[in-house]
Amino acid sequence: MSTDNKQNEFAPPPGMEVHVYDGIEEHDNFLPRWWLWLLYGSIVFSAGYYAHYTFGPGPTLRDEYAVAMQQLETVRAAHAPKPGQPGGDTEDSLKLWAASDTHREKGKEAYVAKCAVCHGQKGEGGIGPNLADDYWIHGAQYVQLAKVIANGVTDKGMPPWGALVSPDELKSLVAYVRALHGTNPPNAKGPQGEKVVME
Ligand code: HEC
Repeated sequence: MSTDNKQNEFAPPPGMEVHVYDGIEEHDNFLPRWWLWLLYGSIVFSAGYYAHYTFGPGPTLRDEYAVAMQQLETVRAAHAPKPGQPGGDTEDSLKLWAASDTHREKGKEAYVAKCAVCHGQKGEGGIGPNLADDYWIHGAQYVQLAKVIANGVTDKGMPPWGALVSPDELKSLVAYVRALHGTNPPNAKGPQGEKVVME
């Protein structure tokens, strides 16, 4: 072991505290200047930061949350089903559509071409249920009709029409099916499903 260990000759600069315990010297080293500047700088910055976000114009977490929720709404609205797509029409919008004679007439044309084979020329029923009576398996609300026509009931033999007809045609089909109610067609098929009170 060399005895002239240079480290022991370290002379602490003036002002530095030296602490000796069991012959071990401990120097209370000065903090490097750059480090101190970082510390003071961050203290000053934090004061400004706090003031900006607490009293100043900086957005609070609540503000940021509100903005994020608004963005979410925009994205949701952009991806929401459009009218004519399943879930995109409301009871009111479908009712409004059904109030037009032209729409019901268009619905009738489509019905005769696509639906009459199973539901009868006048909605009296056949392979499919009677569409003119008070009894419904899937409900008689406009939205319920739109849904069952668009999605079908594949395992019961009702095909899905959503991809085969245009959105307007789908709404017109709903309009026509609703218009069939109470028409008492001849050779009516017996009730299926629940009795629904319809206006
Ligand atoms: C291949 C035969 C077939 C065709 C074509 C067909 N349907 Fe159906 N439809 C059915 C069957 C079967 C059911 C009964 C489904 C069930 O039991 O859940 C049904 C059910 C329905 C219902 C629900 C009735 C209820 O009681 O809730 C509506 C509404 C309906 N069809 C409308 C239409 C329309 C509109 C078309 C034409 C675009 C059409 N269907 C074409 C066979 C058919």
